[in-house]
Amino acid sequence: MAAFADPDPGLAPAVFAEAAPETRRTFAEGLASTVDGARALLDAASPSELLTPSVKAKLEGLKHAELQRAIAAATAGATPPDAALDERIAAAAADYAKSSPDRAWGGRVFARHCALCHQLAGEGKVVGPQLDGVHTRGATRLIEDILAPSRHVDPNFHVAVITRQDGSVVTGIARGESGGALQLVDATGALSAVPLGQIASRQSAPISIMPPGFADSISPEDFHALLGFLLHQPEPGER
Ligand code: HEC
Repeated sequence: MAAFADPDPGLAPAVFAEAAPETRRTFAEGLASTVDGARALLDAASPSELLTPSVKAKLEGLKHAELQRAIAAATAGATPPDAALDERIAAAAADYAKSSPDRAWGGRVFARHCALCHQLAGEGKVVGPQLDGVHTRGATRLIEDILAPSRHVDPNFHVAVITRQDGSVVTGIARGESGGALQLVDATGALSAVPLGQIASRQSAPISIMPPGFADSISPEDFHALLGFLLHQPEPGER
């Protein structure tokens, strides 16, 4: 993609928030060719994307000590993106493009499997982000967000890993402290409180509590219906 030979670093936040894997990789390779581009890349890309072999090689080629340190810190514990998963995502997007999804049915699939953690048009819980704007990101990126939830996790949704004084471990999304306890939301949307005095150590992991195997657990028809529902949300006033 020649258009990305000299990419505009200012576009990085939008590209990494919304574009499909293939587009992001080409864009990242372009940004990684200059120090300014690499800084924008570091801010906008996920740690895993910085480890894409073609991107990593270019970043190292810049031979910029301060940048190398920042990249090493940002990518600690991250794993490179999985090419096989990229292919699955592209294949799922191609299948979806050929389907004729039943959107009303998709709304019911959402209510059953997703509303536990996500709100859309005011319905559902807010364990994860509200999904009202997701239709702008297109099918491929939406499929990636569903099949590979841990690839792009907003720091607000990082999983807190709490070790108690007695050695037991609890995980969840931290929702702040109140009444001398840390409030945690777990993968079922339930809120629990861990008294601060019981906490021996606390770490944050850049992973998602959203279950990754969703597309394997429902039929392709249900998955396409769900995507159709999410990608064609009525404008305000249209419903
Ligand atoms: C157990 C709770 C849980 C369930 C169930 C769940 N999600 Fe999520 N989801 C999250 C959390 C937490 C995040 C934020 C972290 C991340 O990006 O993975 C998220 C992120 C997302 C994102 C990216 C949002 C953004 O702003 O970037 C999409 C899209 C999404 N989920 C769709 C779905 C769909 C569709 C379903 C139903 C098939 C679903 N989720 C089920 C918890 C959940």
